[in-house]
Parts: sequence; C-alpha cells; structure tokens
Amino acid sequence: MQRLDSHPSGRHFLGIPGPSPVPDRILRAISYPTIDHRGPEFAELGKKVLDGVRGLFGTTQPVIIYPASGTGAWEAAMVNTLSAGDRVLMYETGQFAALWQALARKLGLEPEVLGGGIRGWRMGVNADAIEARLSQDRDHLIKAVCIVHNETSTGAMSDVASVRRAMDAASHPALLLVDTISGLGCAPYLHDAWGVDVSIAGSQKGMMLPPGLGFNAISPKARAAAAKATLPRAYWAWDEMLAFNPSGYFPSTPNTNLLYGLSEVIDMMNEEGLPAIFDRHERLARACRAAVAAWGLELQCLDERAYSPVLSAVVMPEGIDADEVRKTILERFDLSLGAGLGQIKGRVFRIGHLGDCNDLTLMAELAGCEMGMQLCGVRLQGSGVLAAMSSLRAVNTAEHRQAA
Ligand SMILES: Cc1ncc(COP(=O)(O)O)c(C=O)c1O
Repeated sequence: MQRLDSHPSGRHFLGIPGPSPVPDRILRAISYPTIDHRGPEFAELGKKVLDGVRGLFGTTQPVIIYPASGTGAWEAAMVNTLSAGDRVLMYETGQFAALWQALARKLGLEPEVLGGGIRGWRMGVNADAIEARLSQDRDHLIKAVCIVHNETSTGAMSDVASVRRAMDAASHPALLLVDTISGLGCAPYLHDAWGVDVSIAGSQKGMMLPPGLGFNAISPKARAAAAKATLPRAYWAWDEMLAFNPSGYFPSTPNTNLLYGLSEVIDMMNEEGLPAIFDRHERLARACRAAVAAWGLELQCLDERAYSPVLSAVVMPEGIDADEVRKTILERFDLSLGAGLGQIKGRVFRIGHLGDCNDLTLMAELAGCEMGMQLCGVRLQGSGVLAAMSSLRAVNTAEHRQAA
C-alpha cells in the first residue's frame, strides 16, 4: 500500500465537508499515553469533557458521548426514545436525511417522508409543511419529527427554531430529533432554547476531531420518553451512561485518546469564542459562494436563506462528470473534494469550509478547483479565485477598521 505520508511535497488538502482537517494542537493531545479508564486521572478528563461539550450544544442537560460514528448516534437517538411501529415524520433534504430514513425502517419504525425529490434536495426544511402535517394528526400517531440541521450532501442549512415553532403551533407532542452532525461547531446551535429533544452529532466535522465520537444531547422530555420506549437497546442505552457519567466514568471503555482531543477542542473553541467561530464560517462560505458565482456555476442549494456556512455543493454543467473533475483535482493538486451523493452523484462536487479552515485554506481549495475545472474543460465565466479574494479582503478590511 502507498504510504499515506508520502505525498510529493507540502500537505494534503482535505477539502471534503468532514472529516475535516485536525489541527496539530489536537493531534498532539490525542497522542498522550492512554490511561486507565477506571483510574483516578480519568475521572477528571471525563468530567471536563462531559461538562464542557454542553456549551457547544447550548444545553445545561446531559450529553451522552459514545465511541461511534454519526450513524451510531442516529441509532442511539431512535432506540432510546421510540417503540416498534412508531410513526416518525422525517423531512428529506438530501442523502443524509434519506439514509436516516433507511436506518429508521431497519429499526422497525414507520417513517413518513416530507420534502425529498429533486426540488427537496435543493432547499432546507419547510416548517410550514411540518405544521400542516402535524395539525392533521389529531390522534398524535406521529411520535417524532426528524430533521437534518446541515444537510452535508447539498449544502443546505435548515432553521431548527422554525420547526419548533411549527410543532408548537400545531400543539403536537412529538419529539424533535435533530441531526447536527455537520452543523455543530460551525453555526449557532441552541438545543435548549430551540426545544430540541435529541441533538445528534459527530466528532469529525465542526469539532475538528478525527471520526469516532458520537453525541446525543437530550432533553428531560426525551429522558421521560426513554423510560417508556421499547425498541431493544443495550450498548446505546442512555440510562447506564447517565448512571456512570456524573462521576466522570463510562459503562464500557471510552475512546480515551479522542477524549483528550475533545478536551483540547473545548479549550480551543472557548479561546476563539463561539461567535467568532460562527462568523469565520460565514465569511468563508460567503467568499466561496462569490467564487462559484464568478465561475458562472450554480449551487445545489437554491434558497439563499439556507446557504450552508459549512460547505458549498457546486453543480457541474451538463456533460461534465463531477467525479472526473474531483479525480483530476486530487491527482494534480492533492486536494480532496466531496463527491455528489445519491441522486446527485456525478452532478456536483462539494467544497468544505469548516472547522480548522482560514482564508488561505479556502483560497488554496478554490485555486485547486479553478485549475482542475479548467483542465477538465469546464467553461468558466470568470475567476472565482479573484472574486473570493476580493470578498475576503473586503470583509477583513472592514473588520480591521473596526478593530483600529
Ligand atoms: C448530516 C450527516 N448525518 C449523518 C452522517 C453519517 O455520519 P457517519 O458517517 O459519521 O456515520 C453524516 C456523515 O457525513 C452527515 O454529514
């Protein structure tokens, strides 16, 4: 096998929308020696991360941390709160929402799907449609509403608060389950204030960690539902976690070294400050969109209110295979971009601008895209690189003036 550290020169550009690049400071923290997860030192680490991570979710309630990918955290959210045959209203904004539906079916739930289709994959969640459907459900057969905060396959971010308002307007008691696997740490997220019952997250996106930690932030209503829900659960059971966590320990072996990393992430994010982190994501996303517009290309997301600060999915003109463009860009410039998934496979490529990303990281990505598209014969109207530089320069100048 080719050695992964044998790139010809310079660093590989990991431009996919997660896993995102892991900063050196976090890599160093992860390299500390593994300690006894039942020993006294561990409790300090466990308490710090279990407490500190709550700030990222905007909650004072417990957050469960699993050694798992995001898919595991999806499953945990459902098996703890629902019972076989329960109807769940799942809004389809793209491939990840569709995969979550498939998981729900495998668990024996009955998803009812809103959104979806070609158009649904170009927009965020339509809260009015959710309100209309819940208002018809007079017998309250729908037990949960499931939405994806940031749809990583399309670059559409949905307004979670509007969904809560829709549920309240319909006076419907369903639980609100939100996948914020790629939204958390990149955009404001308020689990408590938005009345979310289970927020589902993963370590490998805005948290800047390697893959391997899955999260469930849970409301008191979700805990009450868990006491009655009957889907089988063992590894994922919240109650055992909740029994152990207050002392800083876990019922089974946690991934100690990723928790070192998480501890460092919490420090780094507190140092930069969440508002500054979110502004940085917005600024980079705006510059990326300026590039796409200057190229004369379309974004997959058609609703500007739903433009994602995390990634931009760029639609290729008819006759151009987006996967060929990605392949050229990887081979020539050592830049990995996200593939089109599901019904948009080969139609789009995705540029990540999340996590440990700054102006020049983005500029490198955009330069790689521009050169790669030119090599593949994509007709570009103008230079996206110049447009993005001008966008970044304008914002930075305004900020500098303000600071002076
Ligand atoms: C929005 C969203 N949901 C779910 C998942 C699945 O998570 P994982 O691949 O970590 O299991 C992903 C992965 O990219 C995602 O972006």
